[in-house]
Amino acid sequence: VIVTVTLNPALDVTYPVDALVAHTTHRVREVRERPGGKGLNVARVLHALGEPVLATGLLGGVTGERVRALLDATGVPSRFVPTAGQTRRTIAVVDPRDSTNFSEPGPAVSPAEWSRFRAGYADILGAADVVVLAGSLPPGLPLDAYATLIRLARARGVPTVLDTSGAALREGVHAAPDIVKPNQAELTSLLHAPPDQPPSTAAVGRVVGMGARAVVASFGLLGLVVATAAGGWRAVPPEPVAGNPTGAGDACVAALARGLRAGTPWPDLLAEAVALSAAAVAAPVAGAVDLPTYQRLRPRVLITEEGPAPC
Ligand SMILES: Nc1ncnc2c1ncn2[C@@H]1O[C@H](COP(=O)(O)OP(=O)(O)OP(=O)(O)O)[C@@H](O)[C@H]1O
Ligand SMILES: [Mg+2]
Repeated sequence: VIVTVTLNPALDVTYPVDALVAHTTHRVREVRERPGGKGLNVARVLHALGEPVLATGLLGGVTGERVRALLDATGVPSRFVPTAGQTRRTIAVVDPRDSTNFSEPGPAVSPAEWSRFRAGYADILGAADVVVLAGSLPPGLPLDAYATLIRLARARGVPTVLDTSGAALREGVHAAPDIVKPNQAELTSLLHAPPDQPPSTAAVGRVVGMGARAVVASFGLLGLVVATAAGGWRAVPPEPVAGNPTGAGDACVAALARGLRAGTPWPDLLAEAVALSAAAVAAPVAGAVDLPTYQRLRPRVLITEEGPAPC
């Protein structure tokens, strides 16, 4: 089973409005709610592919109960550890032009709650083929929380995929995850400089030098670049897809986790990741994929071989 860890899930609330006008009152005709957080998006994509998945993480309060109910309705199996603090909300105000987002920080997690989570996680590892660690850390957790979970997984022989940002990403990379998936902004912050254009395996490979076994960097429409000590490849979407790019990276992570479990060779794995990410753009909400788009694009993804990471 592929285990997805979501330490800072969210109740994603969408308010559709005719036109967003700052400093005025809006009448919201309909409220849409979804289980949110990157790990839950990855879990839903894997479930849609028929892949056995187990979602774990922290949930609390009435928003936590709501996230659990919404997740149960999707059919994704889950085992969450309760927190006294309430799970956060994210609010997206969407008008026909664009979306304006408000993202709450999440509850303060106590050392006892974090310790309970680690105990449950150690249990779950016994059945895990791959662990995906995705999204932000809630307040109160140590910055090396993902590093700790990566080391616990490795001690049990379970490979990991890490997708986060900022200090959590930097600390996590040092624990040598099997795959790390930064986007352009996350890579820039890791390297303290923007990567060259078009991005090369040399720039991406510097993150291999920091500890990650393989780095799959995503560059929106420019596709993916993977750097490993053994070699590097680039994969480009065969055509731009119109739609909602939020969550494309989460679908990419789902494909990487599935390929890691199956032992798929890099060129095929990248082609799958590019096609599935594009299929996420074609689906209206994050955490969903349009399977016909995936099938249509999968054979047409262009793969080129690049040099290995210089390390
Ligand atoms: N418009 C698009 N058409 C086709 N493929 C796309 C498009 N936008 C993104 N992709 C694919 O999705 C992958 C991931 O996108 P991106 O680099 O934006 O991830 P991200 O910033 O991590 O996204 P998020 O965190 O919101 O899920 C890209 O590498 C690319 O292959
Ligand atoms: Mg991302």
